[in-house]
Amino acid sequence: MGELRLGWLSDVLGDSPTLKLSGQAKALLAAGEPVVNLTAGEPDFPTPRPICDAALKALEDGHIGYTAAAGTPELRQRVAEYYAERMGVPIKSSEVIVSNGAKQVLYNALSVLLNQGDEVAVPVPYWVTYPAQITALRARMIPVIPTQPGWKITPEDLERAGAGRAKALIFNTPSNPSGAVYTRAELEDLADYFRKTSFFILTDEIYEDLVYTDEGHVPLMTLAPDLRHRIVTVSGLSKSYAMTGWRVGFGIADEKTVSAMTRLQSHSTSNVNTIAQMASLVAFDCRDEVETMSRAFKHRRDVLVEEMSGIPGLEFTVPDGAFYLLADIRGLLAEDRQVGGCMRLAEHLLAAEKVAVVPGEPFGVPNHLRLSYADSEDTLREAGVRFKRALETFGG
Ligand SMILES: Cc1ncc(COP(=O)(O)O)c(C=O)c1O
Repeated sequence: MGELRLGWLSDVLGDSPTLKLSGQAKALLAAGEPVVNLTAGEPDFPTPRPICDAALKALEDGHIGYTAAAGTPELRQRVAEYYAERMGVPIKSSEVIVSNGAKQVLYNALSVLLNQGDEVAVPVPYWVTYPAQITALRARMIPVIPTQPGWKITPEDLERAGAGRAKALIFNTPSNPSGAVYTRAELEDLADYFRKTSFFILTDEIYEDLVYTDEGHVPLMTLAPDLRHRIVTVSGLSKSYAMTGWRVGFGIADEKTVSAMTRLQSHSTSNVNTIAQMASLVAFDCRDEVETMSRAFKHRRDVLVEEMSGIPGLEFTVPDGAFYLLADIRGLLAEDRQVGGCMRLAEHLLAAEKVAVVPGEPFGVPNHLRLSYADSEDTLREAGVRFKRALETFGG
């Protein structure tokens, strides 16, 4: 009898390295170790109370059956109204799909847009799931490397990378892992470039409410409604509403794309949990709570920036959004020991001072570390103290 062999994907798809590291940190914490965990990809706040109450009521009222695959008509309508106002463009409920988090929106979209061998342009650094999904769909990634400091790509960067031949571009503002936020002017330049191409644009705006600039978040759709047939906006409640575990994401795209995504979803996961959908109906009434959390993240950003500033050899651009700081550690490494440096430093931080961080490699930026500031001010201060102490014994 021949050996049972799993398919190709089981070999090429590794564990999400960020999940693995935060898992290690969580295991140490569970064992009572005083870990300072800067790996979190989720808010540490509770979900706003009215949303929880609506979930309890939905359960009590017996909303326990299937819904339409793309989401309840009421929720799709509510999402359409909310984003129409926010983006300043009309949106129909048939242009909205509710999926299991932004992650599934993205996977549904890529699945129906790509053919095997197609190319997808992705700005560096990128969220680790983008290359994994592209690989799973037997497509190829074109990394787009920013040449200006600050981690934002320009039309010239796209041109240089050959993005024009891509079938799709995955765009992300505010960015995980860099915290970069595109300004209106930068987006306008990019939109001009997009007009000269024919690729689909998946714009991942899941951190749209966590922006700390005066200008705030500018949705791509607002600036380029003429491209709406090519734009898939990806968002959801996970980050802004402290609802990562509820699994409620939204996709906004033209009817044809949404309909294809819905057919796929109807054969994979079906609808998002019915109780979560019912609760999500009141989410957009909780804007005060979202504001409060966003202000807290801004303060924490300032705290972490203060702690990490002035460390010789450590460089970073102050993040304008999300809850991550991406630090360049090349200056902490010896000239001849750059390879694998961020992994060495991440391991050293955990071993020497029990500080958990995520190395930059999976985001496409070796020699960087991603530090999450989704934690209390005290924890971030303690992280600063331990980080500096750990560097005293770091061999480079
Ligand atoms: C850039 C980005 N997009 C999407 C997601 C996924 O969000 P969700 O939990 O709604 O699937 C994350 C979560 O870490 C993210 O960082």
